[in-house]
Parts: sequence; C-alpha cells; structure tokens
Amino acid sequence: MAKMAASMVESGEDAFRKIFKFYRRRNPPPDFSDVIDFSKGVPSDKIVPAELDPAAVSDVEAARVGLQPVRDWRAHGLHGYPGFIFISNPFLRGSQPPWVRQCLKTYPQKPNVCNLDMHMSPSDTQDIWDKSVQGLRRPSSGKREPKTLLERLRWVTLGYHYNWDTKTYSANHYTPFPADLHLLSLHVTAACGFPGFNAEAGILNYYRSDSSLGIHVDESELDHSRPLLSFSFGQSAIFLLGGTCRQDPPTAMFMHSGDMMVMSGQSRLLYHAVPRILPAPQGHPASEMEGCSLGSPLQDSTVVQPVSEEDWAVCSRYIQSSRVNVTVRQVLGPGQSFPQTLSSHQRTDSGQPGGYHDDPDGGETGKRKRSSCDSPDTVET
Ligand code: OGA
Ligand code: MN
Repeated sequence: MAKMAASMVESGEDAFRKIFKFYRRRNPPPDFSDVIDFSKGVPSDKIVPAELDPAAVSDVEAARVGLQPVRDWRAHGLHGYPGFIFISNPFLRGSQPPWVRQCLKTYPQKPNVCNLDMHMSPSDTQDIWDKSVQGLRRPSSGKREPKTLLERLRWVTLGYHYNWDTKTYSANHYTPFPADLHLLSLHVTAACGFPGFNAEAGILNYYRSDSSLGIHVDESELDHSRPLLSFSFGQSAIFLLGGTCRQDPPTAMFMHSGDMMVMSGQSRLLYHAVPRILPAPQGHPASEMEGCSLGSPLQDSTVVQPVSEEDWAVCSRYIQSSRVNVTVRQVLGPGQSFPQTLSSHQRTDSGQPGGYHDDPDGGETGKRKRSSCDSPDTVET
C-alpha cells in the first residue's frame, strides 16, 4: 500500500488512471485478453451468477418494452463487487432499433437539453434530427463536409437535467421523463430486485470511435440506495469498474449493444470510466440490427413503435461508427425533496477532486471532457 502510494506520488498517477490510459492507447494497441466478455459465456473465477426475480415482470410486460422473458436473461455478477449486475443483451431480436431511434431522433428533442444548447440558440437546436438527416443520407462526396448536428451531439439530459458545472440536479430544472424509458427502467430494475424504481433523470452519452468518458463516481443523486441503470447501443466499449478510491485497480469488461448494467448496493458509488470504443464483434446485434426494423415483434406494442425504413437508414448508418449509452437515475428517495438551498460546501466538496468531468490525461486529444461549454472543438479529435 505504502509502495503504491509512493509510486503514485512519483508518477502523479493512481492505479485507475494507469489502467484507463493502458486501454485508451492506440499505438501499439493494448492486449485485451484480460477484458471480461460476458457475452461469450466463458466461465471465469471472477464471474458469479446474478439472481433475478422472474416473477417481478410478466412476459407480456417484458415484450411490450422489447425484452425477452426474464427467465431467459443472462445476468451476471462480479466477484468482489456486490450489487453490480451485468445483463447480456436481454432484448428480443429486432427490438433494439426502436430504442436506438428514440436515442437519436426523439430524446434529443426539446424540451430535453443537449450539449449543443450550451453554445447555440434554441431555434438552432430545435430539430436536430430533421436538420441532420439530409446530410447523413447523402453518400460521402469524399470532400470534407461540415458535421451534422447529430454528429456533434455528445450528451442529452432527461427529467431532472444534470448541471455539469454545479454537479447537481434541481427542482426547477425538470421536464417530463420519457414514459417509454421509464417503463423499460422500471421492468429491468424490478427484475433485479428493486421494485418501484422511479426514473427521474437520464443522461445519454454519444460516443464516436475515438471518444472516451473520464473516471468518475455518480454521486449527485440524493438517494444512493436506488440503483443506477445503464443501457448501451451500437458499437462496443471497454467499461472499467473500480473501487471506492482511485488507488483500487479497476476490472475491465466489454459492453456490447443491448447490454445493461445495474450498479446498486455497495457498487452504486464506485469509480468507473469508458476508456475506449471498439467495433462491435461480427455477428453481434449491432451488426445484426440491420433490417430488423420491419416485422419486429414490437409491431403491436403500445410502448415502443417500430422504426420506419427511412429512419432506420439514418440510425443504422450512425451506429455503425458510434455508441450510445443511456444511464437512468432515481434522484430522490420516496417522499424526499430537494433541499431549499445548497451551500457551496454541500454542492461541491465531495472530497474527490475532479469527479464527473475529471480529465485523466490533462486535456490530451481523444478525451471527451464533458462540461456545459462542450463545443465540437473540445469533444472531437
Ligand atoms: C455515465 C456513465 C457509462 C457508459 O454516464 O455516468 O458512466 O457506458 N456512462 O457510457
Ligand atoms: Mn457514470
């Protein structure tokens, strides 16, 4: 321990940051053989089965949001991480496209908030989809063309809109949380043993192939006894799950399209990060999703509507090079409300310098530094 601290002082780096940089390295590319791949079903002494509650969600309720019957889900835990649940793509075949369409076309719409709002007028960010589709449908001319708004989208917030500067949510910055995503979250958390989850805030992250997400803990929610939920679509990623301090070396795992994570209990407040985006493996839903929008099992669903061929052409092209992650949070406990005023001490002094937008590489390119002043120049490489 003392040795570790000494080496940290010398290099100015903690164990998490070292591993983050290892997986982000381009040249030479890192060895991925230690990265856990839950989709492969390879037995590992680190992977433990996770108990679900199949009776919590009926097959019909699950199908209405595009999910397989809970008894068929492959849910895993990780040795040493109580409360962490990884569910390998529990979506029904052909049921991811409607969720991808929601993430690209519906959720970026007003009144939701996105990074582009920070430096553009509301009328300019009004119809991101409509303003982008023409450019995205056109085959590349080979010339350098200006990026569409959709390609410049980095984050969208839902419900209680997270304030990146103060790292808080507040009662007076709230718009209705999307009902479909609320229901999906309710069912997934119920199956994981958390009935009555109330999805109150969402953060969507849009990753290009060279994006990453810095080391952070999600601690701004007022009730940490409620789980944090994460859904991924499109290209794959390496997700690092660490400990309660930055000296704890993190465990690396792949997140593929359709995979879900629940961080609860002792794993609710652990450090985590996304150092790298990787192409979806061949034959994986991100590639399999093509052409699945028609004849989808969701056709009769009242919750998630099927995707038109026209919309899917744009969505599939986008996710061929991008990843979208949705995290859903319950901010307040039952009967809890926001404190009237927060002192600056309560607001920012978490005892952890950096936090959510910590830049593990001191501003090197390739890092998505998220702040309210996100501009294409700071998020692109
Ligand atoms: C977050 C987060 C992880 C991911 O938004 O807080 O940790 O997989 N996202 O994108
Ligand atoms: Mn997070």
